Amino acid sequence: MTEILIKGGRIVTAVDDYIGDIFVKNGKIETIGRQLDIPDAQQYNASGLLVFPGGIDVHTHMEAMQGIARNSDTYATGTIAAAFGGTTTILDFAYQNKGESAKKTLDDRLALAEPQVCIDFGFHLILTDVNKDVLTELPSLIEADGVSSFKMFMAYPEILMVDDAAIFRTMRKVGDRGGMVNLHAENGSVIQVLIEEALEQGNTSPQYHALTRPRLMEAEATHRAIRLAELAEVPVYIVHLSAPEALENVVEARDRGIPAFAETCPHYLFLDNKEYDRPDFEAAKYVMTPPLREHHCQHHLWRGLRFDDLQIVATDHCPFCFNEQPLGINYSKQLGQDNFAKIPNGAPGVELRLVLLFDGGVRTGKINLNRFVQLVSTAPAKMFGLFPQKGTIAPGSDADLVLFDPDKKQTISAKTHHSRVDYSLFEGREVTGKVEKVFLRGELIVDGDRWLGEAGKGKYLKRSASGRML
Ligand code: URP
Ligand code: ZN
Ligand code: ZN
Repeated sequence: MTEILIKGGRIVTAVDDYIGDIFVKNGKIETIGRQLDIPDAQQYNASGLLVFPGGIDVHTHMEAMQGIARNSDTYATGTIAAAFGGTTTILDFAYQNKGESAKKTLDDRLALAEPQVCIDFGFHLILTDVNKDVLTELPSLIEADGVSSFKMFMAYPEILMVDDAAIFRTMRKVGDRGGMVNLHAENGSVIQVLIEEALEQGNTSPQYHALTRPRLMEAEATHRAIRLAELAEVPVYIVHLSAPEALENVVEARDRGIPAFAETCPHYLFLDNKEYDRPDFEAAKYVMTPPLREHHCQHHLWRGLRFDDLQIVATDHCPFCFNEQPLGINYSKQLGQDNFAKIPNGAPGVELRLVLLFDGGVRTGKINLNRFVQLVSTAPAKMFGLFPQKGTIAPGSDADLVLFDPDKKQTISAKTHHSRVDYSLFEGREVTGKVEKVFLRGELIVDGDRWLGEAGKGKYLKRSASGRML
């Protein structure tokens, strides 16, 4: 394998910030120093650029079914988009069908993803049917298959939702083996009542998606999830936290020394519920769960990120096209033209996480560069059992590296993004900062606008314990 030498970049990790050279051998960082001279190595000049560890996005949905709709990104297109955005590892989901063994769920997803993925990857296992047999399987999934995080839904009744007993049983089973439970925390039963009431009153437009999923019901489920975890003595991770009231529950638990963790997503940091005022069904583009919240909520999320009450920024990339053409996608947001509850939930974003957070977080002074790296790479690696192979720039770590131009301006658009989806939540937004080069285990996979990677080159990552190393 080629040896490479990245010269004169500003190397930024979660704790360091200095100018240096990085020598990479056999896909790993071999040496970091000043004025390194390795004659045979392929050289890259990084002066004027920031060098980050590759981004790790711990919440993506590629090729997943939602009712009759399937995410528009495949593992191939979605991981190319991720790479262009500076993400070199994703943790996606393996969804258990009811009645299915957990091992089969994992093996089937792996078989689908492996030939396609262009960056490194792992899975959280989504449990929808927690029976005795499945519980018996979980220790071996952690120990033999490297799946140390199990996601369950407290929302979406009849489809994905499980009850408190299932959550508690899973927590008890995985807790002393290095497992963690991730929760989509919303009170699905109450939300269902609100949805039915809205539809009975003839309120069918996308705005009602937001109006029927109140912040209080996110807070209620977050509180319940944390209390269940406290009793089971297991770390708990709340996905896509959007409501200040939910954050209060995380803060309260953390103040008491409970290992409660949470992520938020760029759309909750940069967008608000005014998007639902868009005419002509355009609001459907913003139908994701939880919905976009009132503008003032953003302030609480930023404060949470600054003071480590929120540990990670993940995208919840879950793309569905707005229209069925021109990309030839069957089943788009249009499914919900007459009923907001039928709009496939989710939005694209895997390509934008680093640039949005750099432009809107670092450049505005809300977070510093080290915290930025912590949020997009180091904390995800530590939280989900990938550190120090991933998540930092250090001798022995994988050479997943992003060369980032902090001064280059770009305009976000679906016309130029790489995701297979026909719209962007951030269409027309001008941002400063651009991913210039991306290395995956020492191989250059993105060079400006050129794609040099290859499907099937992403490696499945067996992870160690989750929720134990922060
Ligand atoms: O709207 C969303 N977030 N769709 C994906 C499924 C989920 O709830 O994470
Ligand atoms: Zn969710
Ligand atoms: Zn999700």
